[in-house]
Amino acid sequence: MKIILGPSSKELGEKVAELAGFEKVPVVSKVFPDGESYVRLEGSVEDEHAAIVHTTSKPQDTNLVQLAFMANAAKRNGAKKVTAVVPYLAYARQDKIFLEGENVSIETVAAMLKAAGIDQLITVNIHSETALGKFPFPTKNLSAIPLLAEYFVKKGCKNAFALAPDKGAMYIAQQAQQFLRGEAGSLEKTRDRHTGQTTQTGTHLNVKGQTVIIFDDIISTGGTIVGAARILKEQGAAQVYAACVHGLLIGDAEKRILDSGVEEIVATDSVPGKNSKVSLAPLISEALKAL
Ligand code: R5P
Repeated sequence: MKIILGPSSKELGEKVAELAGFEKVPVVSKVFPDGESYVRLEGSVEDEHAAIVHTTSKPQDTNLVQLAFMANAAKRNGAKKVTAVVPYLAYARQDKIFLEGENVSIETVAAMLKAAGIDQLITVNIHSETALGKFPFPTKNLSAIPLLAEYFVKKGCKNAFALAPDKGAMYIAQQAQQFLRGEAGSLEKTRDRHTGQTTQTGTHLNVKGQTVIIFDDIISTGGTIVGAARILKEQGAAQVYAACVHGLLIGDAEKRILDSGVEEIVATDSVPGKNSKVSLAPLISEALKAL
């Protein structure tokens, strides 16, 4: 297997290749002044299984197109199989029709990736498994939660309360709980599909005097974490941390979260940034070695 170092995850791709002992294929990429993308593989993948490591966080559309272009280039170069390793999968949240007249974005993305030559997809903590059902080729969804939980265990937060900010993230809090060995619970979050406005509530949580770690798959604007932190503080939590797999952290999200009393934000390198304190490289390299 050879690892194609997608420009959006170059460092992660390098770490994966080094851990797994696979050869790296660098990529030259650019965006022309008119916004169009260009990629070129700087190495051969002829007769190889090529794994492209390339996340599709912001700018999502550019990153998705570049992924498709790299897959096409790999197939044209004679790759016998192309696996896309896409830690953050853009558009996975629009996995069904919520309002009449919408499209199913992830279905279109899946068809585009298939047409480009991708044979298999590996992603990490996809927002909903339903999205994977839209792909016309095999997919694998890895979980980075053990790695995030271990970060907190090493930090001395054993027995911390693992909180899901909504019911959908409860599986995440429960996975973390297996490592932290404290309690787990969840808030309720409802969303107005027209305005996008969310409402959070939390009752019967035993968080008084406790260290609480809020675990979510994505932090985008930070609104969910800020709302959860407010409820936790009102209920007497001693310390609040925020952990996520995909730290999109749009605009002033980081500042808003820290201003709300959260001690630290911990994310993975699914979306590279200054809060990427946990690397996905061990998880991805093991998954690729097992293929
Ligand atoms: C949605 O249900 C996701 O799991 C996250 O909770 C959400 O994307 C976070 O978004 P924001 O940071 O904008 O509140």
